[in-house]
Amino acid sequence: MTALARCHNIEDFRRRARRKLPAPLFHYIDGGADDEATLRNNTEAFERYRLIPRVLQDVTHTDLRTRVLGCDLEMPLLLAPTGMSRFFHHQGELAVARAAARFGTLYSLSTVATTRIEDIANAHPGPKLFQLYVLRDPGINDELIDRCAAAGFRALCLTVDTVVQGNRERDLRTGMTVPPALTPSSFASFLARPQWCWRFLTSPRLQMANVAHRIAEGSTQVSSLASYINGQFDRALNWRAAERIRARWQGPFAIKGILSVEDARRAADIGASAVIVSNHGGRQLDGVPAPVEVIGEIADAVGDRLEIILDGGIRRGSHVLRALALGATACMMGRPYLYGLAAGGQAGVERVLALLRAEIERDLILAGRPRLGDIDRSLVRADLG
Ligand code: GLV
Repeated sequence: MTALARCHNIEDFRRRARRKLPAPLFHYIDGGADDEATLRNNTEAFERYRLIPRVLQDVTHTDLRTRVLGCDLEMPLLLAPTGMSRFFHHQGELAVARAAARFGTLYSLSTVATTRIEDIANAHPGPKLFQLYVLRDPGINDELIDRCAAAGFRALCLTVDTVVQGNRERDLRTGMTVPPALTPSSFASFLARPQWCWRFLTSPRLQMANVAHRIAEGSTQVSSLASYINGQFDRALNWRAAERIRARWQGPFAIKGILSVEDARRAADIGASAVIVSNHGGRQLDGVPAPVEVIGEIADAVGDRLEIILDGGIRRGSHVLRALALGATACMMGRPYLYGLAAGGQAGVERVLALLRAEIERDLILAGRPRLGDIDRSLVRADLG
């Protein structure tokens, strides 16, 4: 049995990723902000919503298909934008995009990705979203939007919860820099991962491929992602700017990082097609609610005006069922597929997707709601203690 075949759930992939990656990279994926209370709660909160199955339903035919952001998808679990993927496996973003296409789901490319927009478009026939961080250099934002339109990206998502980076103390301790720096504290962890080091040294230079041409020569050599975000991201970003971006992008448009009903209403008012209810995987403001804790009230308020995507904490198919029951149109995941990528490149991401798709399908059957369309609030009961 191969190492990937021995991974039966996301926690198995997490452990495998830990064995494959130098510590700074593993902890960059795995960590959250401050005390990581939000990170932990994102997953734990799902357990407070109990599933109430219906029995003696004919569950012969299942149907996981859905339509999100103008894309017909084979499953209601999308791949969230994540940066720096080539650091986690030499196949990087291309591997993730190809896996998403094979499973008929949406791939999201991040502004801080290590693969160019055009290279993803050439390699990936499936539906694609580009995630925009608004940068202080005003020209680059329009340039990225126009390049995505020309490359055939289907949807644009504006992330609004990261005008400065959250306090990621694991990164401070491990010295996570981009590209990784050999400090005394990280040296041993790199030495312990010779396979990763060999790949790193023999791969084309790793950089933020879509924005590198706008960064002053020399400043990409060794700089932390935190210093890039804190220096280059536009803190003046506001609703008027979001409205301008919405107007420039003709296709489906999502705002990611919404946790309040008021902001969800505002997103609908400026013509967003979707809100992505997210706390950035617990990596930004520690102490905010888990997406599953607010998805119901947001769905009640604006569910008839836009699509609602839950991002954060998904580790099981049964988490997806709870989110859909509370009013989500679909869910997104980040860390689970990055663990898969680190564990085994495209094959690792595909196995993560296969396991979660199988879980969603099995759980729909066991819940007596074989089609996504059968799911409604009666599937969950909040046990908020
Ligand atoms: C960047 O978006 C990060 O969360 O590290």
